[in-house]
Amino acid sequence: MRFYNVQKVLSDQFSVTNLQILNISKLFYKAMLQGLNDEFGSLKMLPSYMNKPTRQEKGEYLTIDFGGTNLRIEVMELLGNGAYKIGKSLSIPLDNRKSGSNFTSERSTATDLFGFIACQIRELAEPHKKYFLGHTFSFPTKQTGPNSATLLKWTKELKTSGVEGQDINVLLSEALKANGIHNVFPKVIINDTVGTLLTAAYKSPHANIGSICGTGHNTCYFEPSPPTSNTPMIINIESGNFNKLQFNKYDDLLDRKSEKPGEQRLEKMVGGKYLGELVRLIVLDFVDNGILLCKCNKKLQKEIITSCSITSKDVAEIQSDNTFQLEIINYFINSRFHYSDSLLEDRKILKITADLIIKRAAKLIASTYLGILDKIDPNLKSKQIISLDGSLYGNIPLFQKYIRKSLDDALGEKSGSVIVELIKDGSGVGAAIAAAMFKYL
Ligand code: GLC
Repeated sequence: MRFYNVQKVLSDQFSVTNLQILNISKLFYKAMLQGLNDEFGSLKMLPSYMNKPTRQEKGEYLTIDFGGTNLRIEVMELLGNGAYKIGKSLSIPLDNRKSGSNFTSERSTATDLFGFIACQIRELAEPHKKYFLGHTFSFPTKQTGPNSATLLKWTKELKTSGVEGQDINVLLSEALKANGIHNVFPKVIINDTVGTLLTAAYKSPHANIGSICGTGHNTCYFEPSPPTSNTPMIINIESGNFNKLQFNKYDDLLDRKSEKPGEQRLEKMVGGKYLGELVRLIVLDFVDNGILLCKCNKKLQKEIITSCSITSKDVAEIQSDNTFQLEIINYFINSRFHYSDSLLEDRKILKITADLIIKRAAKLIASTYLGILDKIDPNLKSKQIISLDGSLYGNIPLFQKYIRKSLDDALGEKSGSVIVELIKDGSGVGAAIAAAMFKYL
């Protein structure tokens, strides 16, 4: 009985109906137009100064992928028509518990962060070889050209001091110089969504939408005629900031506790950085109200759950536990909440919570894709490829399924024209393609 009541309460708060999907897609479409016309709204619609590639781009490039979790440097060889080879590469966490350094905290400065990036480049680049560099910097930036990008604000809870308001390419170039690196030439800065779209468009002319469903969430698309410029280009929507949505009490709680309350409201409902935290807030509430893990010392249990953290990987594991007695969830409750008396009902509640959160994320994201499709090809006259990268999309099969189903339900028989494609290495390959497009500039 308890399970069915909880299921009802939760689905009232987390379900998204087909009608809501259509409404959200319309509001998203409207917000896109507002952003494009420089009117007030939640979508920034940032110009990237990138057209689509010719697919003939070739050669070896150095790439930086800076997304907030890891720093990845790669040597990338483009072979043309969608083909590429990854050469030497390295990947280091920005918050490194082992070495005790955290370049994402406010105690770290722009000089520390870009000095660190320059040192990693020195590790990889051969000293006597000349490199053109493509930089994927996955945050909202105001670009005035392909190689000048001012950070508007940190997202995804990053706090490094002195970077907001600065031109990222200037910070990088100064750090390269200060570290005596004179053979690396930064050519372009792109968003990771743009990298994903460039990578897909390197293979197919039908790729017009690039999206990231990972720690953060954002989408870009190819705009043939931006109203404020007469050059066709990819537009970084910064869709994570979309806010015409219905928030429940957990969304509001999470938002209030976040680094930037009121901002990135869609991202806080769909981004991998936040899904686990939503689950934790629900569990805490349920324990407090005697709905979950009842056989315990409530105070102690609350303390444990308050201080633990839950990741999106945990949420995915909880959701996909198909064992008869939900043993994986039992183990999770045991190890994370130090609670060994969980009943099957407790585990079922956790599973349905994870599922509802993942399903809601997929449906909200699909709604935004529908809004974009309405903008670029309302009658779906041509094939449209939505290229997607990121850990949520790549690692959670049900998330993929829910996105597809939402598109199918909304588009009916036209749905066959819309291909959703998983792109691997989008940030690295995209940065190399962008560098190739602008290497002589
Ligand atoms: C955040 C950033 C955005 C990025 C996305 C995915 O939403 O603001 O620029 O594309 O995360 O990494």
